[in-house]
Amino acid sequence: MNNTDSDKPIGIFDSGIGGLTVVKRFLTALPNENIIYFGDTARVPYGSKSNSTVIEYSLQDARFLLSKNVKAIVVACNTASSVAIDELRKTFDIPIIGMIGPGSKAALKETKNKKVGVIGTRATISNSAYAKRLKFLDPSVEVFEKACPLFVPLAEEGWIKKNATFEIAEEYLNELRSKEIDTLVLGCTHYPILSGVIQKVIGPNVKLIDSGIASVEIVKEELKKNNLLSQRDSGGESIFYVSDIPTKFKEIAELFLGKPVNGITKVELETLTV
Ligand code: DGL
Repeated sequence: MNNTDSDKPIGIFDSGIGGLTVVKRFLTALPNENIIYFGDTARVPYGSKSNSTVIEYSLQDARFLLSKNVKAIVVACNTASSVAIDELRKTFDIPIIGMIGPGSKAALKETKNKKVGVIGTRATISNSAYAKRLKFLDPSVEVFEKACPLFVPLAEEGWIKKNATFEIAEEYLNELRSKEIDTLVLGCTHYPILSGVIQKVIGPNVKLIDSGIASVEIVKEELKKNNLLSQRDSGGESIFYVSDIPTKFKEIAELFLGKPVNGITKVELETLTV
């Protein structure tokens, strides 16, 4: 890395729009950074695919971001963070930050009764990514996990207040309600889009942890340590790439980021897979 490396953008990827919940945090916390976002909307969801497929897709996503000359990669997908982070770090020689470590640390900071719930995709839950990390950091913590795969399409559809979303959340979260958890990790970056429903169903006394928020501080530290924090003071810009342009991408992206999102570019899948 040389002096001008700090001017390069930060690359952020997810299987779809979920990573925008992470971008939103970056825009506030690191306003002078340029961001290149890639959402693999043609191949979402990752959470119900095998580990080897998620690894293959994640390597392709990271390679795409590297072709845009990024200085660091944020894996804004808990599924890819659970399954592919070691492979990504082995393959690429730039800082790579996932969601599991930051989300786990934030949950342990928050919990008082040491009963932590984790919701995520099937892949994240079946790999016990959070349970392993939480217990590694604090063996006395009790972890209760639940896969909530239907939350991803509900978020992608923007169904943030529909009755059906409440009913599905009741079904998924009922079991966790009986465990007396005081903290719930939203272990999928799509889930903050549904946080209103999730909070209502799980109850006001349970603190929700957004792994995206937790990751921002870690990224800041990592960039600082590597002398990669942008020296710009004029504000950064964000560029969005997707592997398919779903009709709702722009609408939901704007709803979520709270600002106009222009110039979303489609990347042909063939260029990712060569
Ligand atoms: N947003 C992703 C995550 O954080 C996954 C959604 C999916 O592709 O299944 O796990």
